[in-house]
Amino acid sequence: MNSKMLEERKKKYCLTDGTIGFSIDVAGMDFKDEDLNALSAKFADAHKEMIRIESGEIKNPDENRKVTHFTDRAVYPGTSLFADIQNFAEELRTGLIKGCTGKAIENAVINGIGGSALGPQLIQNAIRGPYWNELPAKKRKGFLRIYFLDNTDTAELKDLLDAVELDKTILISISKSGGTQETKNNMIAFRDIYSKNNLDFAKHSCAVTMIGSELDKYSKAENWLRVFPLADSIGGRTSETSVVGHLPAALAGIDFKSFLQGACHMDAWTREPDFRINPSYLLAAMWFIAGKGKGDKNMVIVPYSDRLILLSRYLQQLVMESLGKEKDLDGKTVHQGLNVFGNKGGTDAHAFIQQLNDGRNDFFVTFIEVLKDFINIPIEENISMSDYLHGFLCGLSNALLGKDREVIRMSVREMNEFNLGLLIALYERAVAYYAELVHINAFHQPGVQAYKLASKSIISLTKDIQVALRSIGQFSGTAKELLAKAGLKAQASEAEGILAKFAENSSLRKFNGFKITREWNDEKGWVYEITVL
Ligand code: PA5
Repeated sequence: MNSKMLEERKKKYCLTDGTIGFSIDVAGMDFKDEDLNALSAKFADAHKEMIRIESGEIKNPDENRKVTHFTDRAVYPGTSLFADIQNFAEELRTGLIKGCTGKAIENAVINGIGGSALGPQLIQNAIRGPYWNELPAKKRKGFLRIYFLDNTDTAELKDLLDAVELDKTILISISKSGGTQETKNNMIAFRDIYSKNNLDFAKHSCAVTMIGSELDKYSKAENWLRVFPLADSIGGRTSETSVVGHLPAALAGIDFKSFLQGACHMDAWTREPDFRINPSYLLAAMWFIAGKGKGDKNMVIVPYSDRLILLSRYLQQLVMESLGKEKDLDGKTVHQGLNVFGNKGGTDAHAFIQQLNDGRNDFFVTFIEVLKDFINIPIEENISMSDYLHGFLCGLSNALLGKDREVIRMSVREMNEFNLGLLIALYERAVAYYAELVHINAFHQPGVQAYKLASKSIISLTKDIQVALRSIGQFSGTAKELLAKAGLKAQASEAEGILAKFAENSSLRKFNGFKITREWNDEKGWVYEITVL
């Protein structure tokens, strides 16, 4: 596309809200007016479905749930829940609530995964930056340092425990379902560490979960500091504008009301039925046309702001967990999805951008620019550091367009809560609308359930193998031989994985009644040695 054509197209395909300084420009995408016209009946149907979502119909049929994140956030600031969270954060900040030894709470550990972690991580980094926890309390105005646990990985846990003082820390366990194993494991680890250190865990623990969940019942029975309810109709990956995003943000003094105002501003704009002037619909239409309604092109997200480095990770989950589906709403096998990756510009120009320029043309890129600088750094006469970042963005965009690569550009005025709210709401609605265009349920995640079930059988094999190892006595042999001797029915490779973990952790982990080591044998592979204790 030459620059004259691009300028012409921008007149039509660049949407701007001058009141807030936001714009989205899809002129660099490869489509014609006719392509949009041909799809207008489909777009109109999808819009009707969007109205059904907001009018409270069941739009997550598998889970028999309403989908209320678009509507709930408009009223949330006026609720008592909102006020409770603000008060709780203030009581922690001012030291009114203290830890069990009487010391002020300085650190919050946010324990959650997927939709219960990615939004809080994004807003924390976007608004507070990567070095918030290193600032002295005065610079943080007494707000808490924020840490995250979002896995069941001992490395993550050990690194965190090395960094925080337990009696100055609270654990915030966030789990909509209240039964997610990764989150539960971190809670158990914390509970036991507090108990070993003679500290009262209940005075250092809070939960955000659905009423009646396992976590809800447990935390209430144990008299935790606070338990905040999350509505059943708000899904994990669309929960950032609810209590899930609010509590961690409030603890760091982030202006959540302004964040919600940004989201609501975008909601008002994106309720517009005409997809040509509705930024979410136009965005989804671009995804649909670029990928021929089958996700044939990858979505590359490149924000030109280090503060948005987690945006691609956040959108990867929002888009791929919502749109990556085997079946459509009629039960037909469709294997839908849209790949999302990205990191940050201009750094990416020294990494994967080489392939975007010269390699496979299997993507469209979305550049997001933040116009206002954090500080002014002159580099040479009349040129500041950020002029270079802008120059690199435009240069890359032009170079890509010159090679018939597809480009979407967005810009926000500055990095603040309001503008982050705009971006999140923009993408949330684009995802929901795209799901309607391809006729799938964006709000369930059957693939996640499938992996959970498959993992359960490995945990059960792990238990069975330990029972077997205690009873078979002295033994030396391969995993396959061990299974045979113990009379266990399992794949040798699965048993091998479990035994390998046992053997490599023999110095750390005490097994009841036996010790296990392994040695490599060129003919047999790994040979396990069981010693009865
Ligand atoms: O978007 C989703 O639904 C998931 O990513 C969930 O957020 C994730 O599985 C964690 O679930 P929960 O909040 O129930 O612990």
